[in-house]
Amino acid sequence: MKPIRYILFWLVLALLPVAVAGDPQQAISALRAEIARHDELYHRKAAPEISDSDYDALKRRLTELERTHPAAAKLAPPLTEIGDDRSGLFATVRHRERMLSLEKAYTEAELRAFDARLAKALRRDALEYIVEPKYDGLAVSVTYERGKLVRAVTRGNGMDGDDITANARQLRDLPGELRVGRPGAAANRQPDSIEIRGEIYVPFAEFERVNAERELAGETRFANPRNLAAGTMRQLDARVIGERGLRVVFFGIGACEPAAARPATQRMLYTTMAAWGLPVVENTRTARGADELVRAIAAVNEARRRFNFPTDGAVVKLAERALQDELGVGETAPRWAVAYKFAPERAETQVRAITLQVGRTGVLTPVAELVPVELSGSTVARATLHNRDEIARKDVRVGDFVYVEKAGEIIPAVVGVNLGRRTVEAREFVFPAECPECGTAVVTRESEVAVRCVNASCPAQLRRRVAHYASEACVDIGGLGPAMIETLVARGWVTNLADVYQLKRDDLLALGKNNAKSVDRLLAAIEGSKRAELWRVIHGLGIPQIGTVAAKELAQRHGTLEAFAAAEPRARDLAAALLAVGVRPTTAELGTRALAGKTFVLTGTLPNLTRAQATSKIEAAGGKAGSSVSRATSYVVAGAGAGAKLEQARKLGVPVLDEAGLLRMLERK
Ligand code: IVH
Repeated sequence: MKPIRYILFWLVLALLPVAVAGDPQQAISALRAEIARHDELYHRKAAPEISDSDYDALKRRLTELERTHPAAAKLAPPLTEIGDDRSGLFATVRHRERMLSLEKAYTEAELRAFDARLAKALRRDALEYIVEPKYDGLAVSVTYERGKLVRAVTRGNGMDGDDITANARQLRDLPGELRVGRPGAAANRQPDSIEIRGEIYVPFAEFERVNAERELAGETRFANPRNLAAGTMRQLDARVIGERGLRVVFFGIGACEPAAARPATQRMLYTTMAAWGLPVVENTRTARGADELVRAIAAVNEARRRFNFPTDGAVVKLAERALQDELGVGETAPRWAVAYKFAPERAETQVRAITLQVGRTGVLTPVAELVPVELSGSTVARATLHNRDEIARKDVRVGDFVYVEKAGEIIPAVVGVNLGRRTVEAREFVFPAECPECGTAVVTRESEVAVRCVNASCPAQLRRRVAHYASEACVDIGGLGPAMIETLVARGWVTNLADVYQLKRDDLLALGKNNAKSVDRLLAAIEGSKRAELWRVIHGLGIPQIGTVAAKELAQRHGTLEAFAAAEPRARDLAAALLAVGVRPTTAELGTRALAGKTFVLTGTLPNLTRAQATSKIEAAGGKAGSSVSRATSYVVAGAGAGAKLEQARKLGVPVLDEAGLLRMLERK
């Protein structure tokens, strides 16, 4: 956030009591206008300026003012609560039933008040609730007519949203057709027309992958998985969506015809949707009464550390539809549900220094060296500042007290400065004109934010390239760790990847660091890596945009390192050098692989892997992925919502695995 905006934000909050004393109506208007501005940034531009918790603080101030000054609240111009995510790039479609927001709760007291309010209105005790994760992505409503997907629409302003059907069809886990089960089964009662509500989101691993690629290409990172989901779905080129591992999950319905087709409980809704083949919210809990509710929320908060997708809270829903209907909906949200927002995992600490890390492609990444601080169970001493523009945008200075959060809850990042604690000693960081490692003048290519060292033999880049090549994800040379690589590069023994294969036993022994046994082990590992699988070598070359997935495809397509090098000019010299020192990559032979000769049929939604990912893992291990279950099928891998294929497997006695079972088989190499 720009400093001026940051100051404004706190000024609005700090001056509110004064303003209110003067004119509560004006204070309410100002706050509503400020919130509307952030809604616009968040929903339409997918580029928020303040963190969710700062935004929530504004909203709470407003609620508080509205409560204490109800007359003024009526007179002040209203805030269109739901915001508006329409971008103007797509046709607008009206929802048959309005898409609502959720009321928020932040404290145990607010949660208990919610339960007490419902119990009173319904004149019942110990109400039953479903408690589930709140996915942090882009809200979507998909319509199926007679079982066929006809439309996908964003929430928009709640009434009308962006028609993103073409893009949504690229989502791998959104079925084009709903599954029909055997007669009498839940799946068989398909409505003529139904709006199904859910969230499009990005798993953390995909968020990291996309950002890593963008960094290599010198593009700006997505600030969080939600922005990546929202930004991707608004692409005008639908193919981009297929390339990114976006997922979708469903947890509610809108209009439904005939109305009698609506399941009687929230749980039955989930079972039914799963039977139709839709991915449905997982990790749900049942709670009766306020005490269990509080415990269930705590349990979701605990469990979410292990989720592979971003969550920003837990949603509490009354379990029975009849009771939901009895309470009905308010202006902007249903009265029978509430979103409990988890406190962000954030810590404040001081920046000791800003250092630069030179990546293997020469990109200089600034890193904040911090006074170590505890953050959600680990000690954080360094946090990325991403790039030069980010430092300027946040105005981070050495000596500042900053807030660190785990961006996407994994990697710590500096999210803002506590300007109230800035002293005159805080020093601005001046991005150097030369590479801190080799002194070569740095460059910024046109339309890139990245600052790069363009010296291909820069020792820092070289160390990282060697470390990447030797890593487990590439040719896996055990014993060639950072300290050893640093020594080899510093001595000038390794000036490119091929030099690794020319190391002399006597030289290594003379270093005096390692005994003969460990030197021999290292040399054996280096020798062994000459016969690494081809895709590992291709990945190890460190060519921008060629990660493991692309490397496997390229290995399959070209078959040999020579053929690959002939087709990829960026690989030519390096591949020739590796071939010259005896690197002869292998293409794994069928007979030796874990799943050789076995046929798998996937059904239902697996908790972590998409169908494409599971298939490629099976194939990479020598197995085959089939589509129908027969006696020849070795295993059926079943996930949530598995139907006919699972039944067939049981009938034929074909063994059934879950995702964990499949992963265990893959590990047995
Ligand atoms: S229920 C009628 N359940 O949060 C209520 N919403 O702030 C429909 N969200 O628009 C929402 N996870 O996009 C529900 N498990 C969940 C959710 C969830 C994420 C989103 C959804 C909704 C927004 C409300």
